[in-house]
Amino acid sequence: MISRRNLLAGGAVTAVGALTQRATPAQAPTQAVARLEPFHGPHQAGVATAPQAHAVFVAFDLLPGTGKEGLTRLLPLLTDDAARLTQGRAALADTEPELAANPAGLTVTFGFGPGLFAAAGVKSPVAQLPAFETDKLKKQWTGGDLLVQICADDPLTVSHALRMIVKDTRSFAEVRWTQRGFRGGAPGGTQRNLMGQLDGTVNPTDLDRAVWIGDGPLRGGTTLVLRRIRMELETWDAADRTAREFTIGRRLDTGAPLTGRAEHDEPDYQRLNALGFPVIAEYAHIRRTHVADPAQRILRRPYNYDDGLSAEGKPDAGLLFASYQADVERQFVPIQRRMAEGDLLNQWVTTVGSAVFAVPAGCAPGGWIGDSLLA
Ligand code: HEM
Repeated sequence: MISRRNLLAGGAVTAVGALTQRATPAQAPTQAVARLEPFHGPHQAGVATAPQAHAVFVAFDLLPGTGKEGLTRLLPLLTDDAARLTQGRAALADTEPELAANPAGLTVTFGFGPGLFAAAGVKSPVAQLPAFETDKLKKQWTGGDLLVQICADDPLTVSHALRMIVKDTRSFAEVRWTQRGFRGGAPGGTQRNLMGQLDGTVNPTDLDRAVWIGDGPLRGGTTLVLRRIRMELETWDAADRTAREFTIGRRLDTGAPLTGRAEHDEPDYQRLNALGFPVIAEYAHIRRTHVADPAQRILRRPYNYDDGLSAEGKPDAGLLFASYQADVERQFVPIQRRMAEGDLLNQWVTTVGSAVFAVPAGCAPGGWIGDSLLA
Protein backbone atom coordinates (compact mmCIF):
# COMPACT_ATOMS: atom_id res chain seq x y z
CA MET A 1 0.00 0.00 0.00
CA ILE A 2 1.26 3.46 -0.77
CA SER A 3 1.48 5.51 2.41
CA ARG A 4 0.13 9.03 2.52
CA ARG A 5 3.63 10.37 3.19
CA ASN A 6 5.18 8.52 0.23
CA LEU A 7 2.43 9.67 -2.02
CA LEU A 8 3.13 13.19 -0.97
CA ALA A 9 6.87 13.06 -1.21
CA GLY A 10 6.48 12.15 -4.88
CA GLY A 11 3.87 14.84 -5.39
CA ALA A 12 5.90 17.52 -3.72
CA VAL A 13 8.96 16.78 -5.81
CA THR A 14 6.91 16.92 -8.99
CA ALA A 15 5.47 20.25 -8.03
CA VAL A 16 8.79 21.77 -7.02
CA GLY A 17 10.28 20.41 -10.22
CA ALA A 18 7.57 22.06 -12.24
CA LEU A 19 8.10 25.36 -10.49
CA THR A 20 11.87 25.36 -10.95
CA GLN A 21 11.52 24.30 -14.54
CA ARG A 22 9.23 27.18 -15.31
CA ALA A 23 11.54 29.61 -13.64
CA THR A 24 14.52 28.79 -15.91
CA PRO A 25 15.52 31.59 -18.30
CA ALA A 26 14.74 29.36 -21.28
CA GLN A 27 11.08 29.46 -20.36
CA ALA A 28 10.25 32.97 -19.26
CA PRO A 29 8.26 32.79 -16.01
CA THR A 30 4.83 34.30 -16.10
CA GLN A 31 3.97 37.11 -13.72
CA ALA A 32 1.69 34.79 -11.78
CA VAL A 33 4.39 32.17 -11.17
CA ALA A 34 6.83 34.85 -10.06
CA ARG A 35 4.59 36.04 -7.24
CA LEU A 36 5.38 34.04 -4.09
CA GLU A 37 4.02 35.30 -0.80
CA PRO A 38 5.95 34.08 2.25
CA PHE A 39 3.90 31.90 4.57
CA HIS A 40 5.90 31.96 7.82
CA GLY A 41 6.36 35.15 9.81
CA PRO A 42 5.12 37.12 12.80
CA HIS A 43 1.77 37.86 11.12
CA GLN A 44 -0.36 35.68 8.86
CA ALA A 45 -0.19 36.61 5.19
CA GLY A 46 -3.37 37.73 3.43
CA VAL A 47 -4.08 40.77 5.58
CA ALA A 48 -1.35 43.31 4.80
CA THR A 49 -0.65 41.50 1.51
CA ALA A 50 -1.53 43.56 -1.58
CA PRO A 51 -4.91 42.06 -2.50
CA GLN A 52 -4.80 39.33 -5.11
CA ALA A 53 -7.40 39.23 -7.89
CA HIS A 54 -9.42 36.25 -6.61
CA ALA A 55 -10.58 35.04 -3.22
CA VAL A 56 -12.65 32.42 -1.55
CA PHE A 57 -13.71 32.59 2.05
CA VAL A 58 -14.79 29.25 3.48
CA ALA A 59 -16.27 28.80 6.94
CA PHE A 60 -16.51 25.47 8.72
CA ASP A 61 -18.60 24.23 11.61
CA LEU A 62 -16.66 21.87 13.85
CA LEU A 63 -18.19 18.40 14.12
CA PRO A 64 -19.58 17.62 17.58
CA GLY A 65 -16.56 15.52 18.59
CA THR A 66 -13.94 18.10 17.60
CA GLY A 67 -12.47 19.71 20.71
CA LYS A 68 -9.02 20.83 21.70
CA GLU A 69 -7.49 17.46 20.88
CA GLY A 70 -9.01 17.40 17.39
CA LEU A 71 -7.98 20.99 16.74
CA THR A 72 -4.38 20.26 17.69
CA ARG A 73 -4.41 17.60 14.97
CA LEU A 74 -6.39 19.59 12.36
CA LEU A 75 -4.58 22.93 12.59
CA PRO A 76 -1.03 21.58 12.10
CA LEU A 77 -2.33 19.67 9.06
CA LEU A 78 -3.97 22.77 7.55
CA THR A 79 -0.92 24.90 8.39
CA ASP A 80 1.25 22.39 6.55
CA ASP A 81 -1.07 22.49 3.52
CA ALA A 82 -0.92 26.28 3.49
CA ALA A 83 2.85 26.41 3.98
CA ARG A 84 3.36 24.09 0.99
CA LEU A 85 0.72 25.39 -1.40
CA THR A 86 1.68 29.05 -0.96
CA GLN A 87 5.25 28.14 -1.91
CA GLY A 88 4.19 26.25 -5.05
CA ARG A 89 4.54 22.79 -3.54
CA ALA A 90 1.88 20.09 -3.47
CA ALA A 91 0.02 19.46 -0.23
CA LEU A 92 0.25 16.09 1.53
CA ALA A 93 -1.50 13.44 -0.60
CA ASP A 94 -2.30 16.05 -3.23
CA THR A 95 -3.92 14.10 -6.04
CA GLU A 96 -3.39 16.97 -8.50
CA PRO A 97 0.12 18.19 -7.63
CA GLU A 98 0.41 19.99 -10.99
CA LEU A 99 -2.24 22.43 -9.79
CA ALA A 100 0.07 23.52 -6.97
CA ALA A 101 2.88 24.53 -9.32
CA ASN A 102 1.59 28.06 -9.92
CA PRO A 103 1.13 29.73 -6.52
CA ALA A 104 0.14 33.06 -8.17
CA GLY A 105 0.63 35.01 -4.95
CA LEU A 106 -1.44 32.50 -2.98
CA THR A 107 -2.11 33.29 0.67
CA VAL A 108 -4.08 31.07 3.03
CA THR A 109 -5.24 32.84 6.18
CA PHE A 110 -6.96 31.22 9.16
CA GLY A 111 -9.56 32.76 11.45
CA PHE A 112 -11.16 31.33 14.59
CA GLY A 113 -14.80 32.07 15.41
CA PRO A 114 -16.28 32.12 18.93
CA GLY A 115 -17.45 28.50 18.48
CA LEU A 116 -13.92 27.24 17.94
CA PHE A 117 -12.76 28.76 21.22
CA ALA A 118 -15.79 27.30 22.98
CA ALA A 119 -15.02 23.84 21.57
CA ALA A 120 -11.41 24.16 22.76
CA GLY A 121 -12.45 25.37 26.22
CA VAL A 122 -10.59 28.65 25.75
CA LYS A 123 -12.08 32.11 26.42
CA SER A 124 -12.96 33.69 23.07
CA PRO A 125 -11.33 37.02 22.26
CA VAL A 126 -14.11 37.71 19.71
CA ALA A 127 -17.93 37.74 19.77
CA GLN A 128 -20.55 38.04 17.06
CA LEU A 129 -21.52 41.62 16.22
CA PRO A 130 -24.53 43.31 17.79
CA ALA A 131 -27.60 43.50 15.52
CA PHE A 132 -27.84 46.56 13.26
CA GLU A 133 -31.16 47.88 12.04
CA THR A 134 -30.16 47.71 8.38
CA ASP A 135 -29.06 44.05 8.57
CA LYS A 136 -31.09 41.33 6.86
CA LEU A 137 -28.85 38.43 7.79
CA LYS A 138 -29.33 35.02 6.25
CA LYS A 139 -28.16 32.02 8.20
CA GLN A 140 -26.50 30.60 5.10
CA TRP A 141 -23.97 33.47 5.06
CA THR A 142 -23.54 34.03 8.78
CA GLY A 143 -21.26 32.74 11.54
CA GLY A 144 -18.78 29.87 11.42
CA ASP A 145 -16.25 28.25 13.75
CA LEU A 146 -13.21 28.15 11.50
CA LEU A 147 -12.53 30.46 8.57
CA VAL A 148 -10.04 29.91 5.79
CA GLN A 149 -9.43 32.85 3.46
CA ILE A 150 -7.72 31.82 0.23
CA CYS A 151 -6.49 34.52 -2.19
CA ALA A 152 -4.45 34.28 -5.39
CA ASP A 153 -4.16 35.94 -8.78
CA ASP A 154 -5.19 32.73 -10.55
CA PRO A 155 -8.68 31.34 -9.82
CA LEU A 156 -7.42 27.80 -10.56
CA THR A 157 -4.90 28.14 -7.74
CA VAL A 158 -7.66 29.32 -5.40
CA SER A 159 -9.90 26.37 -6.29
CA HIS A 160 -7.14 23.85 -5.83
CA ALA A 161 -6.13 25.22 -2.44
CA LEU A 162 -9.79 25.25 -1.37
CA ARG A 163 -10.19 21.62 -2.38
CA MET A 164 -7.13 20.54 -0.42
CA ILE A 165 -8.22 22.45 2.67
CA VAL A 166 -11.76 21.05 2.50
CA LYS A 167 -10.46 17.49 2.02
CA ASP A 168 -8.16 17.72 5.01
CA THR A 169 -10.84 19.25 7.20
CA ARG A 170 -13.48 16.62 6.45
CA SER A 171 -12.96 14.42 9.54
CA PHE A 172 -13.11 17.40 11.89
CA ALA A 173 -15.59 19.90 10.46
CA GLU A 174 -18.14 20.50 7.72
CA VAL A 175 -18.43 23.43 5.34
CA ARG A 176 -20.94 26.00 6.52
CA TRP A 177 -20.57 28.43 3.59
CA THR A 178 -18.19 29.42 0.81
CA GLN A 179 -18.10 32.91 -0.64
CA ARG A 180 -16.10 33.70 -3.77
CA GLY A 181 -14.96 37.14 -4.78
CA PHE A 182 -12.86 39.00 -7.32
CA ARG A 183 -11.29 42.40 -7.67
CA GLY A 184 -11.15 44.65 -10.69
CA GLY A 185 -9.81 47.98 -11.85
CA ALA A 186 -6.43 49.17 -13.08
CA PRO A 187 -3.52 47.00 -11.80
CA GLY A 188 -1.75 48.61 -8.86
CA GLY A 189 -4.56 51.11 -8.33
CA THR A 190 -7.60 51.09 -6.10
CA GLN A 191 -10.11 48.43 -7.11
CA ARG A 192 -13.55 49.25 -8.51
CA ASN A 193 -16.63 47.66 -7.02
CA LEU A 194 -19.77 46.71 -8.97
CA MET A 195 -21.35 50.11 -8.27
CA GLY A 196 -18.46 51.51 -10.31
CA GLN A 197 -16.78 53.28 -7.38
CA LEU A 198 -13.09 53.23 -6.53
CA ASP A 199 -13.25 51.27 -3.29
CA GLY A 200 -10.37 51.15 -0.81
CA THR A 201 -8.92 54.67 -1.09
CA VAL A 202 -8.75 55.52 2.62
CA ASN A 203 -7.06 52.76 4.60
CA PRO A 204 -4.72 52.88 7.60
CA THR A 205 -1.00 53.01 6.91
CA ASP A 206 0.24 52.30 10.45
CA LEU A 207 -0.87 48.67 10.67
CA ASP A 208 1.05 48.09 13.91
CA ARG A 209 -1.43 50.32 15.65
CA ALA A 210 -4.63 49.91 13.62
CA VAL A 211 -4.52 46.24 12.69
CA TRP A 212 -2.02 44.09 14.60
CA ILE A 213 -2.78 43.29 18.21
CA GLY A 214 0.06 44.34 20.52
CA ASP A 215 -0.49 42.16 23.59
CA GLY A 216 -2.54 39.36 25.13
CA PRO A 217 -3.23 35.90 23.68
CA LEU A 218 -3.82 37.27 20.17
CA ARG A 219 -0.56 39.24 20.07
CA GLY A 220 0.66 39.51 16.47
CA GLY A 221 -2.81 38.62 15.21
CA THR A 222 -5.86 40.67 14.31
CA THR A 223 -9.61 40.29 13.84
CA LEU A 224 -11.66 39.89 10.68
CA VAL A 225 -15.21 41.06 10.17
CA LEU A 226 -16.66 39.63 6.97
CA ARG A 227 -19.94 41.14 5.82
CA ARG A 228 -21.75 40.00 2.73
CA ILE A 229 -23.40 43.14 1.37
CA ARG A 230 -25.84 42.86 -1.50
CA MET A 231 -26.08 45.79 -3.90
CA GLU A 232 -29.39 46.83 -5.43
CA LEU A 233 -27.78 47.37 -8.81
CA GLU A 234 -30.98 47.93 -10.78
CA THR A 235 -32.12 50.90 -8.72
CA TRP A 236 -28.53 52.15 -8.44
CA ASP A 237 -28.29 52.18 -12.24
CA ALA A 238 -31.49 54.23 -12.35
CA ALA A 239 -30.04 56.99 -10.15
CA ASP A 240 -28.28 59.78 -12.02
CA ARG A 241 -24.55 60.37 -11.73
CA THR A 242 -24.90 63.41 -9.47
CA ALA A 243 -27.01 61.42 -7.01
CA ARG A 244 -24.57 58.53 -7.09
CA GLU A 245 -21.60 60.80 -6.39
CA PHE A 246 -23.52 62.69 -3.69
CA THR A 247 -24.26 59.37 -1.95
CA ILE A 248 -20.59 58.57 -1.43
CA GLY A 249 -19.14 62.10 -1.39
CA ARG A 250 -16.66 61.20 -4.13
CA ARG A 251 -16.56 61.33 -7.92
CA LEU A 252 -17.12 58.12 -9.85
CA ASP A 253 -14.42 58.69 -12.48
CA THR A 254 -11.39 59.70 -10.41
CA GLY A 255 -12.57 58.77 -6.92
CA ALA A 256 -11.69 62.33 -5.82
CA PRO A 257 -13.70 63.78 -2.94
CA LEU A 258 -16.38 66.20 -4.16
CA THR A 259 -14.26 68.98 -2.64
CA GLY A 260 -11.02 67.93 -4.40
CA ARG A 261 -9.37 67.01 -7.70
CA ALA A 262 -7.47 63.77 -7.16
CA GLU A 263 -8.32 60.47 -5.47
CA HIS A 264 -6.05 61.01 -2.49
CA ASP A 265 -6.91 64.68 -1.82
CA GLU A 266 -8.15 65.22 1.75
CA PRO A 267 -11.93 65.74 1.77
CA ASP A 268 -12.98 69.15 3.07
CA TYR A 269 -15.98 68.37 5.28
CA GLN A 270 -16.51 72.06 6.16
CA ARG A 271 -16.92 73.37 2.62
CA LEU A 272 -20.41 74.70 1.74
CA ASN A 273 -21.99 75.08 -1.68
CA ALA A 274 -23.64 78.25 -3.04
CA LEU A 275 -26.87 77.37 -1.19
CA GLY A 276 -25.04 77.02 2.13
CA PHE A 277 -25.23 73.20 2.28
CA PRO A 278 -22.16 71.01 2.84
CA VAL A 279 -20.59 69.87 -0.46
CA ILE A 280 -20.02 66.46 1.15
CA ALA A 281 -23.51 65.77 2.49
CA GLU A 282 -24.18 65.06 6.17
CA TYR A 283 -25.26 61.52 5.22
CA ALA A 284 -22.67 60.89 2.51
CA HIS A 285 -20.98 57.53 3.04
CA ILE A 286 -17.46 58.91 3.51
CA ARG A 287 -18.60 61.40 6.15
CA ARG A 288 -20.55 58.75 8.08
CA THR A 289 -17.70 56.24 8.04
CA HIS A 290 -14.73 58.61 8.41
CA VAL A 291 -12.47 58.05 11.39
CA ALA A 292 -10.18 60.97 12.17
CA ASP A 293 -7.54 59.05 14.14
CA PRO A 294 -5.53 56.93 11.63
CA ALA A 295 -4.67 54.45 14.41
CA GLN A 296 -8.39 53.69 14.85
CA ARG A 297 -9.14 53.08 11.16
CA ILE A 298 -10.20 49.69 9.85
CA LEU A 299 -8.27 47.98 7.05
CA ARG A 300 -10.73 47.30 4.24
CA ARG A 301 -9.74 44.55 1.78
CA PRO A 302 -13.00 44.06 -0.11
CA TYR A 303 -13.83 41.61 -2.90
CA ASN A 304 -16.74 41.84 -5.33
CA TYR A 305 -19.16 38.96 -5.70
CA ASP A 306 -21.46 38.24 -8.60
CA ASP A 307 -23.60 35.13 -8.33
CA GLY A 308 -25.67 35.82 -11.44
CA LEU A 309 -29.39 36.38 -11.01
CA SER A 310 -31.49 35.70 -7.95
CA ALA A 311 -34.67 33.60 -8.07
CA GLU A 312 -36.55 36.90 -8.61
CA GLY A 313 -34.38 37.66 -11.66
CA LYS A 314 -32.44 40.45 -9.95
CA PRO A 315 -28.63 40.76 -9.88
CA ASP A 316 -27.27 38.76 -6.94
CA ALA A 317 -24.12 40.81 -6.57
CA GLY A 318 -22.34 42.98 -4.07
CA LEU A 319 -19.33 43.18 -1.83
CA LEU A 320 -17.57 40.71 0.42
CA PHE A 321 -16.61 43.44 2.84
CA ALA A 322 -13.54 42.15 4.68
CA SER A 323 -12.35 44.44 7.44
CA TYR A 324 -9.32 43.82 9.68
CA GLN A 325 -8.78 45.72 12.91
CA ALA A 326 -7.04 45.23 16.24
CA ASP A 327 -10.32 45.68 18.12
CA VAL A 328 -13.78 44.97 16.65
CA GLU A 329 -15.72 46.77 19.41
CA ARG A 330 -13.59 49.88 19.42
CA GLN A 331 -12.93 50.22 15.68
CA PHE A 332 -15.50 48.42 13.51
CA VAL A 333 -18.70 48.64 15.56
CA PRO A 334 -18.89 52.46 15.90
CA ILE A 335 -18.44 52.90 12.13
CA GLN A 336 -21.09 50.29 11.34
CA ARG A 337 -23.40 51.88 13.90
CA ARG A 338 -23.06 55.35 12.33
CA MET A 339 -23.68 53.82 8.91
CA ALA A 340 -26.78 51.95 10.12
CA GLU A 341 -28.15 55.10 11.78
CA GLY A 342 -28.04 57.07 8.56
CA ASP A 343 -26.08 56.76 5.35
CA LEU A 344 -27.38 57.56 1.87
CA LEU A 345 -25.75 54.34 0.65
CA ASN A 346 -28.18 52.23 2.72
CA GLN A 347 -30.83 52.76 0.07
CA TRP A 348 -28.81 50.56 -2.27
CA VAL A 349 -26.99 48.10 -0.02
CA THR A 350 -28.21 45.38 2.35
CA THR A 351 -26.04 43.27 4.62
CA VAL A 352 -27.12 39.65 4.19
CA GLY A 353 -24.24 37.84 5.90
CA SER A 354 -21.94 38.49 8.82
CA ALA A 355 -19.14 36.71 10.65
CA VAL A 356 -16.34 37.62 13.04
CA PHE A 357 -13.07 35.78 13.51
CA ALA A 358 -9.90 36.12 15.52
CA VAL A 359 -6.95 35.88 13.14
CA PRO A 360 -4.10 34.38 15.17
CA ALA A 361 -0.50 35.50 14.70
CA GLY A 362 1.67 33.88 12.06
CA CYS A 363 3.96 30.99 12.90
CA ALA A 364 7.58 29.99 12.39
CA PRO A 365 8.59 26.86 10.42
CA GLY A 366 7.68 23.87 12.58
CA GLY A 367 4.89 25.76 14.35
CA TRP A 368 1.21 25.89 13.43
CA ILE A 369 -1.42 28.62 13.29
CA GLY A 370 -3.08 28.92 16.68
CA ASP A 371 -0.43 26.92 18.58
CA SER A 372 0.09 29.53 21.28
CA LEU A 373 -3.69 29.93 21.70
CA LEU A 374 -4.62 26.26 21.89
CA ALA A 375 -1.62 24.09 22.69
C1 HEM B 1 -21.58 47.57 -0.38
C2 HEM B 1 -21.27 48.33 0.66
C3 HEM B 1 -20.26 49.44 0.59
C4 HEM B 1 -19.83 50.15 -0.48
C5 HEM B 1 -20.28 50.03 -1.93
C6 HEM B 1 -18.86 51.10 0.01
C7 HEM B 1 -18.18 52.01 -0.79
C8 HEM B 1 -17.25 52.91 -0.34
C9 HEM B 1 -16.58 53.89 -1.16
C10 HEM B 1 -16.79 54.06 -2.64
C11 HEM B 1 -15.75 54.60 -0.36
C12 HEM B 1 -14.86 55.77 -0.74
C13 HEM B 1 -13.50 55.36 -1.21
C14 HEM B 1 -12.65 54.68 -0.18
O1 HEM B 1 -12.10 55.31 0.74
O2 HEM B 1 -12.57 53.46 -0.26
C15 HEM B 1 -15.89 54.06 0.98
C16 HEM B 1 -15.20 54.51 2.07
C17 HEM B 1 -15.29 53.94 3.32
N1 HEM B 1 -16.16 52.97 3.72
FE1 HEM B 1 -17.48 52.00 2.56
N2 HEM B 1 -18.71 50.93 1.34
C18 HEM B 1 -19.55 49.94 1.75
C19 HEM B 1 -19.71 49.45 3.03
C20 HEM B 1 -19.01 49.88 4.12
C21 HEM B 1 -19.14 49.33 5.45
C22 HEM B 1 -20.09 48.21 5.87
C23 HEM B 1 -18.25 50.00 6.23
C24 HEM B 1 -17.96 49.80 7.71
C25 HEM B 1 -18.86 49.49 8.58
C26 HEM B 1 -17.56 50.95 5.40
C27 HEM B 1 -16.55 51.77 5.81
C28 HEM B 1 -15.89 52.68 5.03
C29 HEM B 1 -14.81 53.51 5.51
C30 HEM B 1 -14.20 53.49 6.90
C31 HEM B 1 -14.43 54.32 4.44
C32 HEM B 1 -13.34 55.39 4.44
C33 HEM B 1 -13.93 56.66 5.00
C34 HEM B 1 -12.93 57.79 5.03
O3 HEM B 1 -12.79 58.48 4.01
O4 HEM B 1 -12.29 57.96 6.06
N3 HEM B 1 -18.05 50.86 4.13
N4 HEM B 1 -16.81 53.03 0.97
